Amino acid sequence: MAQNWQDPAFAGQWDARHLAGNPARAEHLAILLSMMEEVPQGWVLDLGCGSGLVAQMVLDRSAGARIFGVDSSAAMLGLAHERLASYGDRTRLAEGDLTALDRVDAPSGCAAVIAVQSLHHLAEPQYQSAVRWTFEHLAPAGWFVIIDRLAIPSETLYSAFYVLRERQGQSPNPPDWSGYLDWLAANGDRPQPVQTILRLLEAAGFQAAALDVRGDRGMVVGRRPA
Ligand SMILES: C[S@@+](CC[C@H](N)C(=O)[O-])C[C@H]1O[C@@H](n2cnc3c(N)ncnc32)[C@H](O)[C@@H]1O
Repeated sequence: MAQNWQDPAFAGQWDARHLAGNPARAEHLAILLSMMEEVPQGWVLDLGCGSGLVAQMVLDRSAGARIFGVDSSAAMLGLAHERLASYGDRTRLAEGDLTALDRVDAPSGCAAVIAVQSLHHLAEPQYQSAVRWTFEHLAPAGWFVIIDRLAIPSETLYSAFYVLRERQGQSPNPPDWSGYLDWLAANGDRPQPVQTILRLLEAAGFQAAALDVRGDRGMVVGRRPA
């Protein structure tokens, strides 16, 4: 099923099966939540917050955290409103586009910004703008945590990624490069190579590192200097 985030049926199915076909997600979220325990009281911006699954985990784990979530899907935001209603003023949700974050009235001086499986929808210039915007909205020493799909760099290397993805139980796993490109196009996915993500973070002023890369799934961290 191609991804259509505006479709309430697709949104509900993704929410119910958010761990399916992506064995790295649970581990990366566990690392994220441990990191968030150290985040001081304050706003955590959740870019592409979807149905609020990760927001709820952060709110439960970090007593001082408040979440400002932004997403362009009314269907996903509807699920997030339901899920987060009991957290009262610890949450704010906004309909907005990651390609036009300047139009989002988000808090500044934030303790952290997280982006879980959302930035791979952006082309590189849009990604660059989102990273710069993020830097400006973080307090000194604030963390930027990205968990996302990464680009498979070339057809020449594809068979190695296919083998790894098969072993990991990732699905779907197209058997050849053209099938992979078709699958990305059908979903509107434009994953960036980890090198590009690190370069964009460093160019914006972050200290940045690839914390954990598992084939085409990765966790990249950036920190605004203190
Ligand atoms: C795979 S879901 C991840 C949701 C959530 N971060 C999580 O991990 O549970 C991707 C989310 O990104 C959102 N999204 C995709 N492109 C977007 C864009 N250009 N602006 C804002 N949100 C976008 C989708 O609506 C969807 O909710």
